[in-house]
Amino acid sequence: MPITTIAELLQKAKHVVVFTGAGASAESGIPTFRDALTGLWENFDASKLATAEAFHADPSLCWGWYEWRRRKVIQAQPNEAHRAIAQLANHVPKLTVITQNVDDLHERAGSSAVIHLHGSLHSPRCVDCGAAHQSPLPSEPLPEAGIRIEPPRCTRCNGYVRPGVIWFGEMLADEAWTNAMAAAKECDFFLSIGTSGVVYPAAELPFAALANHAKVVHINPVRFAISRQDFFIQGTAASSMKSLVEEAFL
Ligand code: APR
Repeated sequence: MPITTIAELLQKAKHVVVFTGAGASAESGIPTFRDALTGLWENFDASKLATAEAFHADPSLCWGWYEWRRRKVIQAQPNEAHRAIAQLANHVPKLTVITQNVDDLHERAGSSAVIHLHGSLHSPRCVDCGAAHQSPLPSEPLPEAGIRIEPPRCTRCNGYVRPGVIWFGEMLADEAWTNAMAAAKECDFFLSIGTSGVVYPAAELPFAALANHAKVVHINPVRFAISRQDFFIQGTAASSMKSLVEEAFL
């Protein structure tokens, strides 16, 4: 379906949900999960590193990987997709941004009240007592080859500090999931950007929107199977979102 037709549908939308995956941050230089890992991480699958077991087995390897990603995010800039999504808030009656990403690029582009389904690289906490880690973390870039870094210790109980992300096998934060599912069920336009749609329960959201007869649009350079009701824009997040918002509102 041409972008002009989707833009006309977007103009009439009352409540738009934007649902992003790693592909939305790819053009900011943040690797996606299904990109091959390199350097120290090349022998690891992200889904094996993003687990409580990996952290307990080798805290320094796991923390080193998350620090590499966190500091990459610090060096990165929001891209046109993040900016277009933030702009959308000025043109539609109601916008809810839901992300699977653990970076803060939506917020740095100007989006507010972003629902982070998988937590954030910027909210580390104690693995034992759960206390938020308040001490500032270093920000200088790390070698691409990756290094082991001993995690900091909790100032309250001396336990290791872990990344503030949701690991495979862990439950999503109740409030985030409840708010995300409520928005998906209530919206009339659901825009899924840069996600492979393979990780549940997040991947349920577009189906919940479809069940509520919302218009569901996927943006991805890689075409994947969609239902008869979905729409697909084959392209990158940055160029597609820039064109869609310009076509619809500018
Ligand atoms: N623009 C849009 N989409 C892109 C771009 C781009 N420039 N580059 C890649 N993509 C697409 C890929 O084709 C792929 O479909 O982004 C998607 C990224 O998929 P994943 O790497 O699986 O990331 P995501 O869908 O966010 O993964 C979901 O899995 O590993 C867990 O918790 C992690 O939140 C993550 C979840």
